Amino acid sequence: MQRRGMAMMLTFELSGEHETLPKSEVLACMRALGIEYQVVKSCEQCLMLNTRTEPRRLSLILAAKLAMTHRIILTIFECGISESDILESARGAEMRVPSGETFSVRVKQIHRSHLSSTNLERRIGEVIFENNAGSRVNLKDPDHSFRLLVTKSSCIFGEVIASVDRKQFWERKPHKKPFFYPGTILPEVSRAIVNLCEIHTNDLVLDPFCGTGGILVEAGMIGARVIGIDVQESMLRGAAMNLIECGSEYHLLCGDACNLPIADETIDAVVTDPPYGRSAVVMAESVESLYRDALFEIYRVLKRGGRAAVISDFELSRADDAGFAVTGRHAQRVHRSLTRHITVLRK
Ligand SMILES: C[S@@+](CC[C@H](N)C(=O)[O-])C[C@H]1O[C@@H](n2cnc3c(N)ncnc32)[C@H](O)[C@@H]1O
Repeated sequence: MQRRGMAMMLTFELSGEHETLPKSEVLACMRALGIEYQVVKSCEQCLMLNTRTEPRRLSLILAAKLAMTHRIILTIFECGISESDILESARGAEMRVPSGETFSVRVKQIHRSHLSSTNLERRIGEVIFENNAGSRVNLKDPDHSFRLLVTKSSCIFGEVIASVDRKQFWERKPHKKPFFYPGTILPEVSRAIVNLCEIHTNDLVLDPFCGTGGILVEAGMIGARVIGIDVQESMLRGAAMNLIECGSEYHLLCGDACNLPIADETIDAVVTDPPYGRSAVVMAESVESLYRDALFEIYRVLKRGGRAAVISDFELSRADDAGFAVTGRHAQRVHRSLTRHITVLRK
């Protein structure tokens, strides 16, 4: 994947649905692909990275994996938040639209400014048109989409080279699947958490509390082989219905996460959402003993260097007892009485 060339600046236009997850998801995917990068800038809904890897192919691969990014932009310039600065930078920049091809310019005010988006779109469009004889504007389906992101500290301009199909997550919402059970996390959250574990194609991913299989579906969709375990046969039958739909390779076993029917050091990654809250089925003495015993088992079955992402409704503080190093923590407020904690671990 590492075709190296001139350093290029990629800007990820992140979804605003969470403060830390979208950025961590991008960086984890870059590491999973073995891409060298430097973080140039990280601000509200924007992450700018410097890489020498060929950006167009890389962006398409990333866009097929990511959940919490909207677009990947090949950065052309960054400037101050004023119309004169933006137009001066646009006039001095190289923005190639071959003759006969079409383009659009869109402005996204991530941070609301005094600038008029429609005016800027028109004025930048004029600059591109003047510098590219034979080009035409097409706002609906352009060959080249240019985008200006207005943030709190600067404006970032570039060409969109990949977009994440966010509609797919909406289409896979839990209640739209063949088997539904309340309390399942959303597919975009499952996908982002799967990505935090730096999954490679063909990796073996385990969910020892698989329920309806939502996490396994997302892991399967990025090329992992998946194994699901649950104590309830009825859940496994439902998970099978959901997994058949998505076409990935899977195995489902009835068992106890605190005594996994799996050999030592055979699993590449564990991603799981154990039961918590009043309505969940907890097959253990208590939620505390369930987490403690399951963490020891997860550690046992993971290969050395393997990763786990574990969800809880409390801050997971004893993962090191099982031998894990904590490499990331994210908190997501679901509603007044539920904050979901996502802890990323490494063996
Ligand atoms: C929060 S649900 C998992 C939801 C899942 N992420 C999904 O997409 O549907 C937790 C699951 O853990 C299962 N469970 C409870 N105790 C267990 C145990 N000791 N071992 C394995 N599974 C258990 C429950 O049957 C339930 O399906």
